[in-house]
Amino acid sequence: MSMIQLHSVSKVYPPDYAGVKDVTFQVEAGEFLFLCGPSGAGKTTLLRLLFRSEQASEGQILVDGRNVTRLKGAGLAAYRRKLGLVFQDFKLIPHMTALENVSLAADVVGVPWRQSRRRGFRLLSELGLKDKYGVLPPALSGGEQQRVAIARALVNEPEIVLADEPTGNLDPERAAESLRLFARINEEGTTVLIATHDPRLLRSFDGRVLLMHQGRLLRREDLEPAASAT
Ligand SMILES: Nc1ncnc2c1ncn2[C@@H]1O[C@H](COP(=O)(O)OP(=O)(O)OP(=O)(O)O)[C@@H](O)[C@H]1O
Ligand SMILES: [Mg+2]
Repeated sequence: MSMIQLHSVSKVYPPDYAGVKDVTFQVEAGEFLFLCGPSGAGKTTLLRLLFRSEQASEGQILVDGRNVTRLKGAGLAAYRRKLGLVFQDFKLIPHMTALENVSLAADVVGVPWRQSRRRGFRLLSELGLKDKYGVLPPALSGGEQQRVAIARALVNEPEIVLADEPTGNLDPERAAESLRLFARINEEGTTVLIATHDPRLLRSFDGRVLLMHQGRLLRREDLEPAASAT
């Protein structure tokens, strides 16, 4: 069975704006794929539905056999622990250092303090932030904050990583470094789904790309004329 299955999923924002329309797709365990499309296409909405910070208006979402739309309370909390999320707007805690932001995510699921610090420090180092671990987010550049958010998403070795524009604030070199880190955790078995409107990220990527436009998932057939025109 596929790791992630969406069946005819729609999300209508009040009063009647469909952010996601009738989306169906599957993701296999261990896959690395991109979700692409212009601003407003519905990428963030789709990730929010998967994380269940938004509830689908219609359709079914199954992750690892669980019906995500029905989860609540402890079941929902347990489900979310399997996910690592990189938010488009980072959501770092401003009065905690970079390292504290990362290791807190491990502390709250019961990882011993020393171990959560060690893991956090290792990830920050891998992301080129070795010298910034004690700095508060407001004193970090946008790209540095983004890398702290990536480290936080990875600290609990989640089964699935959902990353929303994780390279949006990074220069090409840092973006490539972050992508290599995602690729490495993918090689270790993690399923990775990255949403982006940046086509540059796809240049050296030979995996599967899902394309969204105005809330809908485009099928291959929809793309062929455009592809042959270029
Ligand atoms: N809370 C909300 N209430 C109403 N409309 C919303 C809400 N969130 C998103 N939308 C609308 O749904 C559509 C899809 O938004 P979404 O944030 O998913 O796009 P996106 O593909 O992530 O875009 P971007 O590349 O700019 O991040 C947009 O037209 C947006 O205005
Ligand atoms: Mg978005």
